[in-house]
Amino acid sequence: KNIAIIMGGYSSEYQISLISGKVVHRYLDQSKYTGFCIHIFKEKWVYVDADQKEFPIDKNDFSVTVNQTKITFDCVFNAIHGTPGEDGLMQAYFELLQIPQTSCDYYQAALTFNKRDFLSVLKPYGIKSATSYYLNKGDTIQTNQIVTKVGLPCFVKPNKAGSSFGISKVKTEAELPIAIEVAYQEDDEIIIESFLDGTEVSVGVINYKGEIIVLPITEIVSENDFFDYEAKYQGKSQEITPARISDEMTQKVGAIAKRAYELLKMSGFSRTEFIIVNEEPFMLEMNTIPGLTPESLIPQQATAAGISLTDLFTNAIELAL
Ligand code: DAL
Ligand code: MG
Repeated sequence: KNIAIIMGGYSSEYQISLISGKVVHRYLDQSKYTGFCIHIFKEKWVYVDADQKEFPIDKNDFSVTVNQTKITFDCVFNAIHGTPGEDGLMQAYFELLQIPQTSCDYYQAALTFNKRDFLSVLKPYGIKSATSYYLNKGDTIQTNQIVTKVGLPCFVKPNKAGSSFGISKVKTEAELPIAIEVAYQEDDEIIIESFLDGTEVSVGVINYKGEIIVLPITEIVSENDFFDYEAKYQGKSQEITPARISDEMTQKVGAIAKRAYELLKMSGFSRTEFIIVNEEPFMLEMNTIPGLTPESLIPQQATAAGISLTDLFTNAIELAL
């Protein structure tokens, strides 16, 4: 079967996505699948062959013509972090074209990619999150109001972005305007959250062979101020799987991540972040196209669960088909 591995994307995360995509290509079961690396950039959608030669994708049916032969795809493996791969746009496009794809559906992607909306949908079910303040581009910035609501320190985040791009930890009211400006470079909406002083954990939940399972949980100990880009990808953090939390807490936080997956009728991959404060998990966000780079957590968690990357990717494709 022909598998289109889509990678790149229009956001700051495109380089991470190119690495995730390459990992998918490398570990695809070659006895079952032929993987095609498809780069999705604003300026071009192209199939890139082994010699780095580029062939344009026909957006009418997502096919590509190579040496006068038209190639169509049986399944799309989505490895695009951020827009348009993680926010529902590509999902809706493939749904219209009726091409099976490994990610969740467009609605779940759009909802989870919006931190504010995602957390507020889960709140009535007792799933806790940090106190937050929301800003739309153009809103008057009243720093005293922000500080009154969320306190200091606080986190200023683009509402719809990933890999910690645009995120700042703010310690004084005076630092807020610049942090807000930085976040607006990634998105036109901002969420400002209270600082949660606790243990950060990352919980992978996937559908594995038809059963929704929780992967071994990872604890994140950042050497930087928080789990920022450098900590994520340049080794400035310790990632400990399984997390050094009690069995009860492992059960509890795993159950919350699984419940969120089920409540939203998710499919495909998910990796949900929490900070545990005084035995109480607070949810930060859910990633539906989690990183698959060697530094990323889902590959580490799958390995700890005894699931090879080849098995993980075969499973995702088989569930999609
Ligand atoms: N947004 C990055 C790729 C992640 O969640 O792993
Ligand atoms: Mg994220």
